[in-house]
Amino acid sequence: MHIQATAYGKLILFGEHAVVYGQPAIAVPLTAVSARITVENGPPGSGVQIVLAESDAPSRILVDDQTLDNALAYTAHLVLQHLEYSGAQPDLKLTLHSSIPIGAGFGSGAAVSTALARALSTALERPLDKAALNDIVYTVEELHHGTPSGIDNTVIVYEKPVFFQREEALTTLSIPEPFTLIVAHAGHTTPTHITVGDVGRLFAAEPSRIGTIFEQIGTLSRTARRLIESGSTAALGPLMNENHRLLQALTVSDEILDRLCEVAREAGALGAKLSGGGRGGNLIALVEGNQEEMVRRALLVAGAARAFTSTVG
Ligand code: MEV
Repeated sequence: MHIQATAYGKLILFGEHAVVYGQPAIAVPLTAVSARITVENGPPGSGVQIVLAESDAPSRILVDDQTLDNALAYTAHLVLQHLEYSGAQPDLKLTLHSSIPIGAGFGSGAAVSTALARALSTALERPLDKAALNDIVYTVEELHHGTPSGIDNTVIVYEKPVFFQREEALTTLSIPEPFTLIVAHAGHTTPTHITVGDVGRLFAAEPSRIGTIFEQIGTLSRTARRLIESGSTAALGPLMNENHRLLQALTVSDEILDRLCEVAREAGALGAKLSGGGRGGNLIALVEGNQEEMVRRALLVAGAARAFTSTVG
């Protein structure tokens, strides 16, 4: 048997954190990074085994009741359960290869689960449809985050730009005029459940002030959607700056992200903001024409761990 399945990463353009509280957000697939799972037959009686190819000490996870707090084992368990696989587990060895940095805001967790669920269900000759896959990956996301909005799994499973709002039908976004972002990594990360938890506590302590910030972010996402769909992408810059300011007010930015956003703007970016959970991870800067290389270099000189160009649309 030689089966493999892939899932791309994601970038949030507008609306992170507020999306957890029902506001709309915009996210796009990030094809520059991906998770891939290959499937081979395992020795008879081995059951489902998951191998982490790139880890320093390749480890082997057996899918059993003891390992279900591991996101990969839990994904495999949910797939077998969904397919009503009864009796002995299939003897399959699934190997993970991923170029998505963990905790960087690229949706590594959701992408790895998506690739694994796709590969396992295909190996069992019953590939999951997107709705079932999305439900499974969301359930695994709950293990990482506690209260995920569902945006990461949705954009990664459907592989389309999305205008996402909790409890609403999926809305994909058309992008008539592609635009260019510099994606930079701050060099440090904070687990998403920490920043999401802190925003939750802030909201509980000051519901009126923080609720207003969520609404302002939601308004930015709606305006950004109109601009993107009408091809007025240069006008997204000021909205990104405003979204970053509101994320600062939610306490999820930090000095390094603030400085890198400032450096990007000074080097000619039309706008810049953090992207994802915050306090490290990624920022995105909107660039046009010949600013691209200037902004990328300025970010690297200012200490970004990584900076690359990504075309959206
Ligand atoms: C994480 O990629 C985005 C957050 O809004 C959390 C979520 O939506 O679940 C910070």
